[in-house]
Amino acid sequence: MCGIVGYVGRRQAAPILLSGLRKLEYRGYDSAGIAVRNEREIVTVKAQGRLQRLFDKTDNGNAVEGFCGIGHTRWATHGEPSEINAHPHASDDGNVVGVHNGIIENYQELKDKLLRKGYHFYSSTDTEVAIKLVDYYWKKYQLGAVDAINRAMVRIRGSYALAIMFRDIPGEIWVARKDSPLIIGAGDGENFVASDVPAILSHTRSVYYIDNLEIGRLTADSITFYNLDGDTIEHTPVTIDWDAEAAEKGGFEHYMLKEIHEQPAAVRETMNSYVHDRRITFEDVDESVLAGLERIYIVGCGSAYHAGLAGKAVFESLTDLPVEIDLASEFRYRDPKLVRNSMVIIISQSGETADSLAALRLAREKGVPVLSVVNVVGSSIARESDWCVYTHAGPEISVATTKAYSAQLIVLYLLAIRIGELKGTISEEYSAELLDAMLKLPDQISRLLEDKERIQWFASKYASARDIFFIGRGLDYAVSMEGSLKLKEISYIHSEAYAAGELKHGTISLIEDGILVVGILTQQALFEKTVSNMVEVKSRGAYLMAVTSYGNYSIEDTANFCVYIPKTDEHFMASLAVIPLQLLAYYISVAKGLNVDKPRNLAKSVTVE
Ligand code: AGP
Repeated sequence: MCGIVGYVGRRQAAPILLSGLRKLEYRGYDSAGIAVRNEREIVTVKAQGRLQRLFDKTDNGNAVEGFCGIGHTRWATHGEPSEINAHPHASDDGNVVGVHNGIIENYQELKDKLLRKGYHFYSSTDTEVAIKLVDYYWKKYQLGAVDAINRAMVRIRGSYALAIMFRDIPGEIWVARKDSPLIIGAGDGENFVASDVPAILSHTRSVYYIDNLEIGRLTADSITFYNLDGDTIEHTPVTIDWDAEAAEKGGFEHYMLKEIHEQPAAVRETMNSYVHDRRITFEDVDESVLAGLERIYIVGCGSAYHAGLAGKAVFESLTDLPVEIDLASEFRYRDPKLVRNSMVIIISQSGETADSLAALRLAREKGVPVLSVVNVVGSSIARESDWCVYTHAGPEISVATTKAYSAQLIVLYLLAIRIGELKGTISEEYSAELLDAMLKLPDQISRLLEDKERIQWFASKYASARDIFFIGRGLDYAVSMEGSLKLKEISYIHSEAYAAGELKHGTISLIEDGILVVGILTQQALFEKTVSNMVEVKSRGAYLMAVTSYGNYSIEDTANFCVYIPKTDEHFMASLAVIPLQLLAYYISVAKGLNVDKPRNLAKSVTVE
């Protein structure tokens, strides 16, 4: 996610903005910039890459004078990482200058409108469109700041936190938000704006939380809030009692838990980026290729591979296409036989995984197009693939992926539905039903997260476990793989995931008294089969945890500890079943007192073989 800071008061703004941006670096970014109002005008300085470059360009802020300014660290969603795409963005005459965090879904429609009105665009960002839309309403209707902003807010669809300065009203910062975080810090003779608490904690602990579809006006001595009608509204400040480190994690103990809780938003943002007016559109993807596909290859590593395993089941069910899946490290060396009219899907959160990048290059050498599913905009895999469908999970800090994995599933579901539509293998009605089910996923994930204390209680009993097994069939096997990896990588407990029907071919000899076996049972047609596998291991002493849908209460006759998940279309059950498994791994790691976010021997991105 991007980071926003703002300051208005009696001190030089630029150094305060830069130090605020430094405190937001943890959010991940690819460029940064500040804009400060001096006696005459608003001066903007931007830099691609590390924040230090902005410090250097502004002599640590000393070269940019003024008492009112805004700053931004950009995590690219629309438009490559570059200085021209960095924020702040401005209207051509410098009348309006602003920064933005979020995704404007209808930015193309708004851009076309402004182009018709004679506006020009220098960047490929959705933010520039928003800033120029405010400028448009300011000029067209000679409106004041509140009305120019609220007119723009009514037209914008998507999520945004905006901080804006107007050249003609010095000493004021205007803010507006919808679905993206933004806070106001109240100081003594000075006031602050930030995306997150860490940026202002060294200046004030008195914070206002601005609500959705509200506007704020800051001067050195006042903070005023407005609703969409332009009426002033009251907010009560709260006092932040977190320390700086806790603040970076949003009050959560670890980034992993914070990111687990960001999954509803990551799923929603990813879906909203490709579903408009109930239609799935992947802007850059050549749909004629999708329509003509005869085979799909899915390639990834670790959790990306596990997302691909789930994706394979969904693709084959909805598109009737045969789907092969490979670990990237195997694919790149097995001289894969890739047939014509096929496509390789490379899945990667970082977009820099060496094996996955090598697999991409090999596929292209063999003349097969590559579609990548990537979280980091402008990463190598994103740049080298024929088409890239970005996940919108925001930067993922914890080594163990959670929200990016969930966002990858969403992209794979949408691709499968779209290809099914193009190939006529799913009806319009079923496609609509599938989208309806997907739209409910964020709330269903939120509901599962409310159950976390129960998982925490159960996890504390297994901190000293030596082995934990996960079993499932079909899609449930794919989820078992992810649950087992989560546990292994952050708790260091030996764990295996097995296709439930495979146990009797050897593994069951490992089952001893008290060993925890986690059964995933979300696929109704396979439910009884997996139950019988669970009975097999129970009769050999296993302790059973079951993850299944509400209503399957007969499982209580077999399992010792049952976690129920909401019902959804069975294609999407992985998105829900994985949540308790993530929490189980997390709380076991915490119970063992391990470094959850930075487990031993692991890196967030494996950029070497
Ligand atoms: C997942 O929790 C691990 N951190 C790891 O398996 C990861 O999924 C794998 O290294 C692939 O990374 P990528 O998605 O960035 O390519």
